[in-house]
Amino acid sequence: THCILIGAPVDSGQQRPGCLMGPAAYRVARLADTLAALGHSVEDRGDLTHGEIGAETAANPAVHHLPETLGWTRELARAGREACRAGMPIFLGGDHSLSLGSVAGVAQHAAELGRPLFVLWLDAHSDIHSVDTTESGNLHGTPLGYLAGRRGFDAFPPFPAPVPEENICLFGIRSVDPAELAALRETDIVVNDMRVLDEFGFAVPMRAFLDKVRAAGGMLHVSLDVDFLDPSVAPAVGTTVPGGATFREAHLVCELIHESGLMTSLDLVELNPFLDERGRTARMMVDLVGSLMGRKVFDRPTRSG
Ligand code: ARG
Ligand code: MN
Ligand code: MN
Ligand code: MN
Repeated sequence: THCILIGAPVDSGQQRPGCLMGPAAYRVARLADTLAALGHSVEDRGDLTHGEIGAETAANPAVHHLPETLGWTRELARAGREACRAGMPIFLGGDHSLSLGSVAGVAQHAAELGRPLFVLWLDAHSDIHSVDTTESGNLHGTPLGYLAGRRGFDAFPPFPAPVPEENICLFGIRSVDPAELAALRETDIVVNDMRVLDEFGFAVPMRAFLDKVRAAGGMLHVSLDVDFLDPSVAPAVGTTVPGGATFREAHLVCELIHESGLMTSLDLVELNPFLDERGRTARMMVDLVGSLMGRKVFDRPTRSG
């Protein structure tokens, strides 16, 4: 695979400084070498900037940094679409508001190919607020609402090709605000919350989703939020929620995704290196990318693949 690294030092989607150091931390944790050692070619396109910004305001007074977030969205959508034509973009965040743009670019590309796009959201949160419903005003809580084509995004460019609800899978969620719950209830989004994963394990629901993507001939965008992981293995994130995926569960999920051969783009989001302990969270994330991109202990025939 030709891997295209896109640094997205986005910090405007939440209020704790530090996510802007994410791309640098992934590079220090040897992401490129990890990919190259697995036989992939790697092209690092450096860090983007949000470009020129306006003075847009939102009716919801909680919302902050709207112009910056719009600037990032435009720039990431452009860079993402361009990268999709050349290989597999890996977006190095940056907070989760970067997915407002990364998925817009990927969706535009999928629409140009006439292929269905599926989105796997590995996260403690459902991130399905809109600009109107967010209480925190942190726009990192909104990207799923935008890419699903929900209302409340008048300030944003219309989403190029909204992802059908049944093509979206939330996986690992355990913190959902009331407005988000109301939104989820009225959609066909597949909600694999921790209650489901506790009962069935991680492999069964993950395989079910991957089988669906394969059957539809779909492209798969994976959005990996650091807080999908349990804080005990990944402390460097501003929004820790107890009870997340363990080291073992997270690697299993990544291995299953790799074996499916379906992933066509990837976001790594919410790493805040300022909160890390001797780089362990950055290294954990790089190791997970290793599993996503083919690292395994031993070759064996796979059930799905
Ligand atoms: N739902 C909460 C909010 O809107 C938390 C969002 C956390 N999102 C994230 N990408 N970490 O403020
Ligand atoms: Mn702020
Ligand atoms: Mn998130
Ligand atoms: Mn989260």
